[in-house]
Amino acid sequence: MTDWIRVCATGELLPGEMRQVWDGATPIVVVNLDGEYYALEDRCSHEDVELSTGSLDPAEGSIECMLHGARFDLRDGRALCAPAYTPVPTFPVKVADGAVWTRDDR
Ligand code: FES
Repeated sequence: MTDWIRVCATGELLPGEMRQVWDGATPIVVVNLDGEYYALEDRCSHEDVELSTGSLDPAEGSIECMLHGARFDLRDGRALCAPAYTPVPTFPVKVADGAVWTRDDR
């Protein structure tokens, strides 16, 4: 179990925005979805592409891979459409000391 990784101050991650951080060798994309924070491994399950280079759909609550258009649910990481079928791992997020924190808890 690793320590929590500081993402940024809460004021630096507004609704509809995302940030990438690394926990060791794990890239993590942290998203503010209408005031709720979600963290996913920043790696498409179709090919090794960073999801943070894609786009958010706040209405659906999803992130779309920029390479082939697969979408993943921000809340549970499940693949919503082809060409991805495997979910993306999700990670815990907490708010403490005015900042957003996450970690690879696997
Ligand atoms: S690499 Fe993400 S959809 Fe193909």
